[in-house]
Amino acid sequence: MKIIFVRALIVCGCVTSVKANDVCLNETEYDFYMLGNLVKDVEKRIQSLRENVKEVIKTRCPDSSCGDEWVSFNNSCYFFENIKSATFEEARASIITQYCKQKAANLLYVEDDTENSFIVKMLGRFKSNNNWLNGLTDQSTEGNWKWIDTNVPARFIKWAPNEPQGRTRENCVAYIGTNYYRWHDITCSSKCPFICKKRKISLNVE
Ligand SMILES: *[C@@H]1O[C@H](CO)[C@@H](O)[C@H](O)[C@H]1NC(C)=O
Ligand SMILES: *[C@@H]1O[C@H](CO)[C@@H](O)[C@H](O)[C@H]1NC(C)=O
Repeated sequence: MKIIFVRALIVCGCVTSVKANDVCLNETEYDFYMLGNLVKDVEKRIQSLRENVKEVIKTRCPDSSCGDEWVSFNNSCYFFENIKSATFEEARASIITQYCKQKAANLLYVEDDTENSFIVKMLGRFKSNNNWLNGLTDQSTEGNWKWIDTNVPARFIKWAPNEPQGRTRENCVAYIGTNYYRWHDITCSSKCPFICKKRKISLNVE
C-alpha cells in the first residue's frame, strides 16, 4: 500500500493537492493515498491516547515510582515499618489492613535470594538489631510453610543454620538482628517491626 503511494508521488512529483481525478494518480492509487492519510491520523490519535494514559497513571497512582517513603528494588516497592511493631496475629488481622493494605501492599513475602539479600542489607541500615517479621508461617500445618498473603507454599525459604527448631511452638518467622538477619522460626506472639511490599505499577502501555 505504502509502496504504491510513494511510487505514484515520485513518478508524478506532485506532493500537494492530489485529487481523485488528478492525472497523477488513478483511482486505486488515490484510494491507497487516502487510506495512508487515514492510517497516519489513527497513528497520531493512538499516540496521543498513549500519552493520556501515562498521565492518568501518574496522577492516579503517584506511587508508581514507589513514592517517598518506599524503597525500590527490582519490580517491587518496600516500606520498612520500624516504629510500629506487630505480632503475627495482629499482622494477619489488623496491622496489614491498617498499614500495608492501606498502602495497597502486603506483608513481606520473599521470592528469591537476590530479594532476600536486598532486605537483609536494608535491615542492617537500621542498626537496631531488631527482629523483623516476614510473612512466612506454618501455623495451619506443622512444617508446611506458606506466605500469609497468598496462602501458597513458599518456593523460596532461607533458614539460618539449625533452624527451624521451634516445631509447633514457633510457627512464625523473623529476620533475627543478632544473627545477621537470618531466618528463625519464632513464636507468633513475638512483637516485631515489619515490612510492606507492593508491586510497581508499570508505565509501559505499549
Ligand atoms: C493504477 O495504477 C497501478 C500502477 O501504479 C496499476 O497496478 C493499477 O492496475 C491501476 N489501477 C487502475 C484502476 O487503473
Ligand atoms: C526481578 O525482575 C525480574 C525481571 O523483571 C523477574 O523475572 C524476577 O522475578 C524479579 N524478582 C523479584 C524477586 O521480584
